[in-house]
Amino acid sequence: MRIVLLGAPGSGKGTQAALLEKHLGLPHISTGVLLRHAVAEQTPIGQQAKAIIDRGELVPDDVMLDLIEERLAQADTQQGFLLDGYPRNLAQAESLDALLKRLGRPVDEAIQIDVDPEQVIARIEQRAAQEGRSDDTEEVLRHRMRIYQEQTAPVVDYYARKGLLTRVLGEGSVEEVLQLILSVLSMDERGAAP
Ligand code: AP5
Repeated sequence: MRIVLLGAPGSGKGTQAALLEKHLGLPHISTGVLLRHAVAEQTPIGQQAKAIIDRGELVPDDVMLDLIEERLAQADTQQGFLLDGYPRNLAQAESLDALLKRLGRPVDEAIQIDVDPEQVIARIEQRAAQEGRSDDTEEVLRHRMRIYQEQTAPVVDYYARKGLLTRVLGEGSVEEVLQLILSVLSMDERGAAP
């Protein structure tokens, strides 16, 4: 199964994808994690991306497409994958569709995790205190949330128009949200053609 997880910064995409990876046996592909790894390793992409991430803006689409194409070429994605943080604007959504069409492996399901912005801010404040991620400052978080509204929210409609979108409320406990997502996925599996 090929799943796209959508949601604002701090909505719980990464948390849920890590749990779903264990439940479903599918690789969790987080573009945020791939980029932070590239920054830590000081690769050319990492060097280009660091300042952009620290400002809370989006890394250029062509860079992201190369990164995702390289990751999807790896053998562990053959049975499916969980995408977290990609696509993040309409151009990325269209590029992903074209890439997956070429690979004969289209998206099966897009799940939007809805969380109230005030709750998101509280979660990120807590994470900032615990982990000190460079883009978790109050000012940068507000900018990330603005970028999300302007550029990423239209991606939700994009998948809705394709009939692939389910929204889940992400405000319960981590376990409660996981169960909601698993029930959506199992309903869809039951409904799928053999
Ligand atoms: P990325 O790493 O993708 O950041 P993000 O989308 O802002 O997401 P977060 O990691 O902040 O939140 P999340 O939804 O994963 O929530 P999480 O599970 O961590 O991207 C970072 C940057 O990289 C971007 O700003 C951009 O610059 C660049 N980038 C990445 N992808 C890109 C792309 N495709 N194109 C261009 N640029 C790109 O949870 C947050 C916190 O809440 C955690 O502490 C967690 O423990 C807690 N929590 C989770 N669930 C719950 C719950 N149910 N109840 C209570 N607490 C919870």
